[in-house]
Amino acid sequence: MPTVRLEKRLLLRAHEEGNEYLHSPAHGPVDFEITAIDLDCEGEIPKDLDGVYIRNGHNPIFQPPSGRYHWFDGDGMVHATTFSEGKATYRNRMVMTAGLANEMEAGKGLYPSLRDGFAAEEGLKNSSGTDVVLHNGEFKTMFSRCGQPYRLDPENLNTLGPDDFNGGWSEGVSAHSKVDERTGEFIFFNYSFNTKPYMQYGVVSADNEVKHAVEIDLPGPRLPHDSWMTENYTILHDLPLFWDQGLLEKGKKKLTLHDLPSRFGVIPRYGNNSDIKWFEAEPTYILHTVNAWEEGDEIVAYAYKQLSPCPTVPRDTPSAKVQNYFLSFLYMQPRLTEYRFNLRTGRTSERIIDDANAEMPGMNYRYLGLKNRYSYNTYAAEVPYFLMAGIQKWDYLSNAQIDNYMLPKGKFMGQPVFAGKLDSTQEDDGYLLAYITDIDGGDGEIYIWSGECIGDGPIAKVKIPVRLPGGSHAYWGHGRDIRRAQARRLL
Ligand SMILES: [Fe+2]
Repeated sequence: MPTVRLEKRLLLRAHEEGNEYLHSPAHGPVDFEITAIDLDCEGEIPKDLDGVYIRNGHNPIFQPPSGRYHWFDGDGMVHATTFSEGKATYRNRMVMTAGLANEMEAGKGLYPSLRDGFAAEEGLKNSSGTDVVLHNGEFKTMFSRCGQPYRLDPENLNTLGPDDFNGGWSEGVSAHSKVDERTGEFIFFNYSFNTKPYMQYGVVSADNEVKHAVEIDLPGPRLPHDSWMTENYTILHDLPLFWDQGLLEKGKKKLTLHDLPSRFGVIPRYGNNSDIKWFEAEPTYILHTVNAWEEGDEIVAYAYKQLSPCPTVPRDTPSAKVQNYFLSFLYMQPRLTEYRFNLRTGRTSERIIDDANAEMPGMNYRYLGLKNRYSYNTYAAEVPYFLMAGIQKWDYLSNAQIDNYMLPKGKFMGQPVFAGKLDSTQEDDGYLLAYITDIDGGDGEIYIWSGECIGDGPIAKVKIPVRLPGGSHAYWGHGRDIRRAQARRLL
Protein backbone atom coordinates (compact mmCIF):
# COMPACT_ATOMS: atom_id res chain seq x y z
CA MET A 1 0.00 0.00 0.00
CA PRO A 2 1.31 3.49 -0.83
CA THR A 3 1.86 6.15 1.83
CA VAL A 4 -0.72 8.83 1.09
CA ARG A 5 -0.36 12.34 2.50
CA LEU A 6 -3.16 14.89 2.21
CA GLU A 7 -1.39 18.17 1.37
CA LYS A 8 -4.32 20.52 0.94
CA ARG A 9 -8.10 20.43 0.91
CA LEU A 10 -9.62 22.51 -1.90
CA LEU A 11 -13.01 24.13 -1.37
CA LEU A 12 -14.73 23.81 -4.74
CA ARG A 13 -17.30 26.52 -5.44
CA ALA A 14 -18.10 26.10 -9.14
CA HIS A 15 -21.58 24.79 -9.89
CA GLU A 16 -23.74 24.84 -12.99
CA GLU A 17 -26.67 22.47 -13.35
CA GLY A 18 -26.12 19.83 -16.03
CA ASN A 19 -22.48 20.74 -16.69
CA GLU A 20 -20.55 17.48 -17.08
CA TYR A 21 -17.19 19.21 -16.73
CA LEU A 22 -18.17 20.07 -13.16
CA HIS A 23 -20.22 17.09 -12.08
CA SER A 24 -19.25 13.91 -13.97
CA PRO A 25 -16.71 11.46 -12.51
CA ALA A 26 -14.92 11.65 -15.88
CA HIS A 27 -14.17 15.36 -15.70
CA GLY A 28 -15.37 16.80 -12.40
CA PRO A 29 -12.65 18.55 -10.36
CA VAL A 30 -10.96 16.93 -7.37
CA ASP A 31 -11.02 18.67 -4.00
CA PHE A 32 -7.58 17.77 -2.67
CA GLU A 33 -3.87 17.84 -3.34
CA ILE A 34 -2.09 14.67 -2.27
CA THR A 35 1.30 13.01 -2.37
CA ALA A 36 1.19 9.20 -2.73
CA ILE A 37 4.56 7.50 -2.26
CA ASP A 38 5.49 4.02 -3.52
CA LEU A 39 2.43 3.35 -5.66
CA ASP A 40 1.04 -0.15 -6.05
CA CYS A 41 1.49 -1.75 -9.44
CA GLU A 42 0.08 -4.70 -11.34
CA GLY A 43 3.18 -6.02 -13.11
CA GLU A 44 6.54 -4.34 -12.54
CA ILE A 45 7.56 -0.74 -13.07
CA PRO A 46 10.61 -0.86 -15.37
CA LYS A 47 13.75 -0.14 -13.33
CA ASP A 48 15.19 2.06 -16.09
CA LEU A 49 12.13 4.33 -16.23
CA ASP A 50 13.64 7.56 -14.89
CA GLY A 51 11.76 10.83 -15.01
CA VAL A 52 8.47 12.63 -14.44
CA TYR A 53 5.24 11.99 -16.31
CA ILE A 54 3.24 15.23 -15.97
CA ARG A 55 -0.22 15.99 -17.31
CA ASN A 56 -2.06 19.29 -17.12
CA GLY A 57 -5.82 19.77 -16.88
CA HIS A 58 -8.62 22.02 -15.65
CA ASN A 59 -9.70 21.89 -12.02
CA PRO A 60 -12.01 24.85 -11.29
CA ILE A 61 -12.14 26.29 -7.80
CA PHE A 62 -14.50 29.27 -8.24
CA GLN A 63 -17.63 29.90 -10.28
CA PRO A 64 -17.33 32.48 -13.10
CA PRO A 65 -19.66 35.42 -12.20
CA SER A 66 -22.02 34.65 -15.13
CA GLY A 67 -22.78 31.21 -13.69
CA ARG A 68 -21.64 29.55 -16.90
CA TYR A 69 -18.65 27.26 -16.99
CA HIS A 70 -16.55 26.08 -19.92
CA TRP A 71 -14.06 23.29 -19.35
CA PHE A 72 -11.15 25.51 -20.40
CA ASP A 73 -12.06 28.10 -17.74
CA GLY A 74 -10.93 25.75 -14.99
CA ASP A 75 -7.73 26.47 -13.08
CA GLY A 76 -4.71 24.43 -14.07
CA MET A 77 -3.92 21.34 -12.04
CA VAL A 78 -1.01 19.08 -12.85
CA HIS A 79 -0.95 15.36 -12.13
CA ALA A 80 2.67 14.25 -11.98
CA THR A 81 4.23 10.85 -11.30
CA THR A 82 7.94 10.55 -10.64
CA PHE A 83 9.56 7.24 -11.64
CA SER A 84 12.91 6.09 -10.28
CA GLU A 85 14.47 2.65 -9.74
CA GLY A 86 11.21 0.78 -10.15
CA LYS A 87 9.21 3.01 -7.76
CA ALA A 88 6.61 5.69 -8.43
CA THR A 89 5.34 8.72 -6.50
CA TYR A 90 2.20 10.63 -7.53
CA ARG A 91 1.45 14.28 -6.81
CA ASN A 92 -1.36 16.54 -7.94
CA ARG A 93 -0.93 20.29 -7.53
CA MET A 94 -2.84 23.42 -8.51
CA VAL A 95 -0.96 25.79 -10.81
CA MET A 96 -0.99 28.88 -8.61
CA THR A 97 -1.65 31.53 -11.21
CA ALA A 98 -2.05 35.24 -10.52
CA GLY A 99 -5.74 34.91 -11.42
CA LEU A 100 -6.36 32.08 -8.97
CA ALA A 101 -4.51 34.00 -6.25
CA ASN A 102 -6.75 37.03 -6.89
CA GLU A 103 -9.87 34.88 -6.61
CA MET A 104 -8.67 33.23 -3.43
CA GLU A 105 -8.09 36.62 -1.89
CA ALA A 106 -11.55 37.81 -2.97
CA GLY A 107 -13.18 34.51 -1.98
CA LYS A 108 -15.14 34.37 -5.25
CA GLY A 109 -14.81 34.02 -9.02
CA LEU A 110 -13.68 37.22 -10.71
CA TYR A 111 -13.18 36.24 -14.35
CA PRO A 112 -15.60 35.61 -17.23
CA SER A 113 -16.21 32.26 -18.88
CA LEU A 114 -15.25 31.32 -22.42
CA ARG A 115 -19.00 30.84 -22.84
CA ASP A 116 -19.66 34.51 -22.17
CA GLY A 117 -19.81 37.09 -25.00
CA PHE A 118 -16.94 38.49 -26.98
CA ALA A 119 -16.33 41.38 -24.59
CA ALA A 120 -15.41 38.80 -21.98
CA GLU A 121 -12.49 37.51 -24.03
CA GLU A 122 -10.32 40.38 -22.94
CA GLY A 123 -10.81 39.55 -19.28
CA LEU A 124 -10.26 35.79 -19.42
CA LYS A 125 -8.19 34.28 -16.67
CA ASN A 126 -4.92 32.69 -17.77
CA SER A 127 -5.60 29.31 -16.14
CA SER A 128 -2.33 27.84 -17.47
CA GLY A 129 -4.23 24.55 -17.66
CA THR A 130 -3.70 23.51 -21.30
CA ASP A 131 -0.17 22.37 -21.93
CA VAL A 132 3.10 21.56 -20.18
CA VAL A 133 6.73 21.06 -21.25
CA LEU A 134 10.11 20.63 -19.57
CA HIS A 135 12.48 23.51 -20.34
CA ASN A 136 15.59 24.70 -18.50
CA GLY A 137 15.07 21.82 -16.06
CA GLU A 138 11.67 23.12 -14.91
CA PHE A 139 8.14 22.46 -16.06
CA LYS A 140 6.32 25.27 -17.85
CA THR A 141 2.53 25.25 -17.96
CA MET A 142 0.70 27.15 -20.72
CA PHE A 143 -2.80 28.27 -21.68
CA SER A 144 -4.43 27.87 -25.10
CA ARG A 145 -5.50 31.53 -25.12
CA CYS A 146 -1.95 32.65 -24.29
CA GLY A 147 -0.58 34.53 -21.29
CA GLN A 148 2.61 34.06 -19.34
CA PRO A 149 3.60 30.47 -18.72
CA TYR A 150 4.06 29.31 -15.13
CA ARG A 151 7.23 27.65 -13.82
CA LEU A 152 6.88 24.53 -11.69
CA ASP A 153 9.53 22.88 -9.53
CA PRO A 154 10.25 19.52 -11.23
CA GLU A 155 10.49 17.66 -7.91
CA ASN A 156 7.72 18.93 -5.66
CA LEU A 157 5.59 20.45 -8.49
CA ASN A 158 5.05 23.66 -6.54
CA THR A 159 4.47 26.78 -8.65
CA LEU A 160 7.57 28.98 -8.76
CA GLY A 161 5.80 31.89 -10.48
CA PRO A 162 5.01 33.34 -13.90
CA ASP A 163 7.80 33.01 -16.45
CA ASP A 164 9.00 36.19 -18.14
CA PHE A 165 12.14 34.45 -19.45
CA ASN A 166 14.60 36.25 -17.18
CA GLY A 167 12.86 39.55 -17.82
CA GLY A 168 13.07 39.19 -21.61
CA TRP A 169 9.43 38.57 -22.55
CA SER A 170 6.31 39.38 -20.57
CA GLU A 171 3.77 39.31 -23.42
CA GLY A 172 2.97 35.64 -23.04
CA VAL A 173 3.05 32.58 -25.24
CA SER A 174 0.48 30.15 -26.59
CA ALA A 175 0.07 26.54 -25.56
CA HIS A 176 1.90 24.24 -28.00
CA SER A 177 4.97 26.41 -28.05
CA LYS A 178 7.61 23.71 -28.32
CA VAL A 179 10.90 22.50 -26.88
CA ASP A 180 13.66 21.30 -29.18
CA GLU A 181 15.11 18.66 -26.85
CA ARG A 182 18.31 18.46 -28.91
CA THR A 183 19.22 22.16 -28.53
CA GLY A 184 17.17 22.84 -25.40
CA GLU A 185 15.51 25.84 -27.11
CA PHE A 186 11.92 26.85 -26.41
CA ILE A 187 10.21 27.96 -29.62
CA PHE A 188 7.12 30.03 -28.98
CA PHE A 189 4.26 31.76 -30.72
CA ASN A 190 1.77 34.16 -29.22
CA TYR A 191 -1.45 35.54 -30.69
CA SER A 192 -4.00 38.22 -30.01
CA PHE A 193 -7.75 38.15 -30.61
CA ASN A 194 -8.21 41.91 -30.90
CA THR A 195 -5.12 44.08 -31.27
CA LYS A 196 -2.08 44.09 -33.53
CA PRO A 197 0.30 42.38 -33.67
CA TYR A 198 -2.03 39.43 -34.19
CA MET A 199 0.89 37.04 -33.86
CA GLN A 200 4.39 37.03 -32.39
CA TYR A 201 7.11 34.43 -32.68
CA GLY A 202 10.34 33.83 -30.81
CA VAL A 203 13.08 31.54 -29.55
CA VAL A 204 14.28 31.17 -25.96
CA SER A 205 17.63 29.55 -25.18
CA ALA A 206 18.17 26.41 -23.10
CA ASP A 207 18.93 28.63 -20.10
CA ASN A 208 15.78 30.71 -20.52
CA GLU A 209 17.14 33.82 -22.28
CA VAL A 210 15.08 35.32 -25.12
CA LYS A 211 17.23 35.04 -28.24
CA HIS A 212 14.74 36.14 -30.83
CA ALA A 213 11.26 37.71 -30.93
CA VAL A 214 9.46 39.16 -33.96
CA GLU A 215 6.00 40.28 -35.03
CA ILE A 216 4.16 38.28 -37.66
CA ASP A 217 1.71 39.94 -40.06
CA LEU A 218 -1.68 38.28 -40.28
CA PRO A 219 -4.74 39.59 -42.19
CA GLY A 220 -6.75 39.71 -38.96
CA PRO A 221 -7.13 38.09 -35.56
CA ARG A 222 -6.93 34.30 -35.71
CA LEU A 223 -7.22 31.34 -33.35
CA PRO A 224 -4.20 29.13 -34.01
CA HIS A 225 -3.76 26.24 -31.61
CA ASP A 226 -0.52 24.53 -32.63
CA SER A 227 2.51 24.84 -34.92
CA TRP A 228 5.30 22.65 -36.29
CA MET A 229 9.05 22.88 -35.98
CA THR A 230 11.88 21.33 -37.97
CA GLU A 231 15.63 21.58 -37.46
CA ASN A 232 15.80 24.97 -39.20
CA TYR A 233 12.22 26.23 -39.50
CA THR A 234 9.01 26.86 -37.59
CA ILE A 235 5.66 26.57 -39.36
CA LEU A 236 2.94 28.93 -38.09
CA HIS A 237 -0.79 28.45 -38.65
CA ASP A 238 -3.32 30.92 -40.11
CA LEU A 239 -6.51 28.85 -40.36
CA PRO A 240 -9.93 29.98 -41.61
CA LEU A 241 -11.84 28.99 -38.44
CA PHE A 242 -12.28 32.23 -36.55
CA TRP A 243 -14.99 34.53 -35.33
CA ASP A 244 -17.67 35.93 -37.61
CA GLN A 245 -16.54 39.56 -37.99
CA GLY A 246 -20.06 40.94 -38.54
CA LEU A 247 -21.35 39.44 -35.31
CA LEU A 248 -18.23 40.56 -33.46
CA GLU A 249 -19.15 44.15 -34.18
CA LYS A 250 -22.41 43.47 -32.33
CA GLY A 251 -20.47 42.02 -29.39
CA LYS A 252 -21.39 38.42 -30.19
CA LYS A 253 -18.98 35.65 -31.00
CA LYS A 254 -19.59 32.75 -33.30
CA LEU A 255 -16.92 30.49 -34.70
CA THR A 256 -17.20 30.29 -38.48
CA LEU A 257 -15.25 28.34 -41.07
CA HIS A 258 -14.59 31.15 -43.56
CA ASP A 259 -14.27 30.60 -47.30
CA LEU A 260 -10.52 31.13 -47.16
CA PRO A 261 -7.56 28.80 -47.61
CA SER A 262 -5.62 27.44 -44.69
CA ARG A 263 -2.24 29.18 -44.63
CA PHE A 264 0.99 27.82 -43.21
CA GLY A 265 3.90 30.21 -42.69
CA VAL A 266 7.38 28.69 -42.93
CA ILE A 267 9.84 30.90 -41.07
CA PRO A 268 13.53 30.17 -40.46
CA ARG A 269 14.08 29.52 -36.76
CA TYR A 270 15.77 32.90 -36.39
CA GLY A 271 13.88 34.57 -39.24
CA ASN A 272 11.79 37.72 -39.52
CA ASN A 273 8.33 38.41 -40.90
CA SER A 274 9.84 39.23 -44.32
CA ASP A 275 11.48 35.77 -44.43
CA ILE A 276 8.20 33.87 -44.14
CA LYS A 277 7.00 31.80 -47.07
CA TRP A 278 3.24 31.27 -46.85
CA PHE A 279 1.73 28.06 -48.27
CA GLU A 280 -1.98 27.66 -49.00
CA ALA A 281 -4.02 24.52 -48.45
CA GLU A 282 -7.66 23.45 -48.24
CA PRO A 283 -9.76 25.20 -45.58
CA THR A 284 -9.81 23.30 -42.30
CA TYR A 285 -8.96 23.59 -38.65
CA ILE A 286 -6.10 21.81 -36.94
CA LEU A 287 -5.92 21.37 -33.21
CA HIS A 288 -2.81 19.21 -33.05
CA THR A 289 0.18 18.55 -35.19
CA VAL A 290 2.31 15.40 -34.95
CA ASN A 291 5.74 16.17 -36.40
CA ALA A 292 7.52 17.81 -39.34
CA TRP A 293 10.94 17.55 -40.93
CA GLU A 294 13.00 18.76 -43.88
CA GLU A 295 13.37 16.48 -46.89
CA GLY A 296 15.16 17.89 -49.96
CA ASP A 297 13.27 21.00 -51.11
CA GLU A 298 10.27 20.07 -49.01
CA ILE A 299 9.00 20.29 -45.50
CA VAL A 300 6.97 17.22 -44.71
CA ALA A 301 4.43 17.84 -41.96
CA TYR A 302 1.81 15.65 -40.28
CA ALA A 303 -1.25 16.93 -38.44
CA TYR A 304 -4.87 16.13 -37.68
CA LYS A 305 -6.93 17.99 -40.27
CA GLN A 306 -10.57 18.30 -39.24
CA LEU A 307 -13.30 17.28 -41.67
CA SER A 308 -15.92 19.04 -39.56
CA PRO A 309 -14.38 21.99 -37.70
CA CYS A 310 -17.84 23.37 -36.78
CA PRO A 311 -19.91 20.39 -35.62
CA THR A 312 -23.68 20.72 -35.88
CA VAL A 313 -25.27 21.06 -32.47
CA PRO A 314 -28.74 19.47 -32.34
CA ARG A 315 -31.59 21.89 -31.60
CA ASP A 316 -32.76 22.02 -27.98
CA THR A 317 -29.29 21.11 -26.68
CA PRO A 318 -29.04 22.60 -23.16
CA SER A 319 -26.57 25.49 -22.98
CA ALA A 320 -24.18 23.64 -20.64
CA LYS A 321 -23.92 20.75 -23.13
CA VAL A 322 -23.22 22.76 -26.29
CA GLN A 323 -19.50 22.83 -25.46
CA ASN A 324 -19.42 19.02 -25.68
CA TYR A 325 -19.74 19.26 -29.45
CA PHE A 326 -16.64 21.44 -29.67
CA LEU A 327 -14.68 19.29 -27.20
CA SER A 328 -15.23 15.98 -28.89
CA PHE A 329 -12.95 14.66 -31.58
CA LEU A 330 -15.78 12.33 -32.51
CA TYR A 331 -17.70 15.30 -33.94
CA MET A 332 -14.77 17.32 -35.32
CA GLN A 333 -13.61 14.26 -37.28
CA PRO A 334 -9.85 14.78 -37.35
CA ARG A 335 -7.87 12.76 -39.90
CA LEU A 336 -4.12 12.14 -40.03
CA THR A 337 -2.94 14.25 -42.97
CA GLU A 338 0.38 14.68 -44.71
CA TYR A 339 1.29 18.15 -45.94
CA ARG A 340 4.27 18.83 -48.18
CA PHE A 341 5.46 22.41 -48.54
CA ASN A 342 7.91 22.82 -51.42
CA LEU A 343 10.27 25.68 -50.57
CA ARG A 344 11.52 25.90 -54.16
CA THR A 345 8.19 25.95 -56.04
CA GLY A 346 5.94 27.35 -53.31
CA ARG A 347 3.49 24.53 -53.89
CA THR A 348 1.56 22.62 -51.24
CA SER A 349 0.37 19.07 -51.53
CA GLU A 350 -1.84 17.40 -48.97
CA ARG A 351 -3.43 14.00 -48.51
CA ILE A 352 -5.32 12.24 -45.76
CA ILE A 353 -3.37 9.09 -44.95
CA ASP A 354 -5.63 7.39 -42.42
CA ASP A 355 -9.42 7.17 -42.10
CA ALA A 356 -9.35 6.57 -38.34
CA ASN A 357 -11.03 9.21 -36.20
CA ALA A 358 -8.00 9.91 -34.04
CA GLU A 359 -6.02 12.77 -32.43
CA MET A 360 -3.93 13.61 -29.32
CA PRO A 361 -0.74 11.95 -30.61
CA GLY A 362 2.33 11.12 -28.56
CA MET A 363 5.85 10.40 -29.86
CA ASN A 364 9.49 10.25 -28.87
CA TYR A 365 10.18 13.99 -28.56
CA ARG A 366 13.91 13.50 -29.09
CA TYR A 367 12.80 13.18 -32.75
CA LEU A 368 10.59 16.30 -32.81
CA GLY A 369 11.59 18.24 -35.92
CA LEU A 370 13.55 15.32 -37.36
CA LYS A 371 12.44 12.62 -39.76
CA ASN A 372 10.82 10.08 -37.49
CA ARG A 373 9.13 6.79 -38.00
CA TYR A 374 6.51 6.35 -35.28
CA SER A 375 3.75 8.14 -33.46
CA TYR A 376 1.18 6.83 -31.02
CA ASN A 377 -2.18 8.32 -31.97
CA THR A 378 -5.31 7.95 -29.89
CA TYR A 379 -8.80 7.01 -31.10
CA ALA A 380 -11.78 9.30 -30.56
CA ALA A 381 -14.36 7.81 -28.22
CA GLU A 382 -18.12 7.44 -28.20
CA VAL A 383 -18.46 9.87 -25.32
CA PRO A 384 -18.94 13.61 -25.60
CA TYR A 385 -15.67 14.56 -23.95
CA PHE A 386 -12.00 15.04 -24.68
CA LEU A 387 -11.37 11.36 -23.86
CA MET A 388 -9.83 8.70 -26.06
CA ALA A 389 -10.61 4.98 -26.31
CA GLY A 390 -7.32 3.42 -27.42
CA ILE A 391 -4.05 3.86 -29.29
CA GLN A 392 -2.63 3.09 -32.71
CA LYS A 393 1.08 2.89 -33.48
CA TRP A 394 1.58 4.59 -36.83
CA ASP A 395 4.57 3.88 -39.09
CA TYR A 396 5.49 6.83 -41.36
CA LEU A 397 7.84 4.67 -43.43
CA SER A 398 5.02 2.50 -44.71
CA ASN A 399 2.30 5.06 -43.83
CA ALA A 400 0.28 2.41 -42.09
CA GLN A 401 -1.04 1.43 -38.71
CA ILE A 402 1.24 -1.37 -37.49
CA ASP A 403 -0.14 -2.01 -34.00
CA ASN A 404 -2.98 -0.94 -31.75
CA TYR A 405 -4.57 -1.38 -28.34
CA MET A 406 -8.13 -0.66 -27.19
CA LEU A 407 -8.74 0.25 -23.56
CA PRO A 408 -11.11 -1.84 -21.42
CA LYS A 409 -14.76 -0.75 -21.20
CA GLY A 410 -15.27 2.36 -19.08
CA LYS A 411 -11.59 3.36 -19.21
CA PHE A 412 -10.30 6.29 -21.24
CA MET A 413 -7.04 8.12 -21.80
CA GLY A 414 -5.74 11.44 -23.02
CA GLN A 415 -2.47 12.22 -24.77
CA PRO A 416 0.16 9.52 -24.10
CA VAL A 417 3.83 10.32 -23.52
CA PHE A 418 6.85 8.42 -24.76
CA ALA A 419 9.78 7.84 -22.40
CA GLY A 420 12.57 6.94 -24.80
CA LYS A 421 15.79 5.31 -23.68
CA LEU A 422 18.26 8.15 -24.07
CA ASP A 423 21.23 6.07 -25.12
CA SER A 424 19.33 4.04 -27.71
CA THR A 425 19.36 4.84 -31.41
CA GLN A 426 16.07 3.04 -31.93
CA GLU A 427 13.18 5.49 -31.85
CA ASP A 428 10.64 3.14 -30.27
CA ASP A 429 13.05 1.73 -27.69
CA GLY A 430 11.37 2.93 -24.52
CA TYR A 431 8.00 3.07 -22.83
CA LEU A 432 4.64 4.56 -23.69
CA LEU A 433 2.69 5.87 -20.70
CA ALA A 434 -0.91 7.04 -20.34
CA TYR A 435 -3.00 8.22 -17.41
CA ILE A 436 -6.21 6.22 -17.37
CA THR A 437 -9.55 7.71 -16.28
CA ASP A 438 -12.37 5.49 -15.07
CA ILE A 439 -15.51 7.32 -16.20
CA ASP A 440 -17.54 5.57 -13.50
CA GLY A 441 -15.44 7.25 -10.81
CA GLY A 442 -13.00 4.46 -9.92
CA ASP A 443 -9.38 5.21 -9.07
CA GLY A 444 -6.96 6.33 -11.76
CA GLU A 445 -4.11 4.30 -13.23
CA ILE A 446 -1.04 4.71 -15.42
CA TYR A 447 -0.68 2.10 -18.12
CA ILE A 448 2.88 1.44 -19.28
CA TRP A 449 3.48 -0.28 -22.61
CA SER A 450 6.69 -1.30 -24.33
CA GLY A 451 7.13 1.21 -27.15
CA GLU A 452 7.94 -1.61 -29.54
CA CYS A 453 4.72 -3.53 -28.94
CA ILE A 454 1.51 -2.04 -27.59
CA GLY A 455 -0.84 -4.71 -28.95
CA ASP A 456 0.00 -7.20 -26.21
CA GLY A 457 -1.24 -4.72 -23.63
CA PRO A 458 0.44 -2.84 -20.80
CA ILE A 459 3.47 -4.38 -19.12
CA ALA A 460 2.54 -2.53 -15.93
CA LYS A 461 -0.56 -0.83 -14.47
CA VAL A 462 0.39 1.66 -11.79
CA LYS A 463 -2.43 2.37 -9.34
CA ILE A 464 -3.26 6.00 -8.48
CA PRO A 465 -5.10 5.82 -5.13
CA VAL A 466 -7.67 8.52 -6.06
CA ARG A 467 -10.03 9.44 -8.90
CA LEU A 468 -8.22 10.94 -11.88
CA PRO A 469 -10.34 13.24 -14.07
CA GLY A 470 -9.61 13.59 -17.77
CA GLY A 471 -7.12 16.30 -18.68
CA SER A 472 -5.35 18.14 -21.44
CA HIS A 473 -1.69 17.82 -22.54
CA ALA A 474 1.17 15.83 -21.10
CA TYR A 475 4.97 15.63 -21.19
CA TRP A 476 7.72 13.23 -20.22
CA GLY A 477 10.52 14.99 -18.35
CA HIS A 478 13.65 12.85 -18.56
CA GLY A 479 15.34 12.55 -15.14
CA ARG A 480 18.70 13.14 -16.77
CA ASP A 481 17.55 16.41 -18.40
CA ILE A 482 16.21 17.64 -15.05
CA ARG A 483 19.39 16.76 -13.15
CA ARG A 484 21.68 18.28 -15.79
CA ALA A 485 19.78 21.58 -15.81
CA GLN A 486 19.91 21.70 -12.02
CA ALA A 487 23.65 21.02 -12.04
CA ARG A 488 24.15 23.77 -14.66
CA ARG A 489 22.34 26.28 -12.45
CA LEU A 490 24.57 25.41 -9.49
CA LEU A 491 27.78 26.10 -11.44
FE1 LIG B 1 -3.98 21.34 -27.50
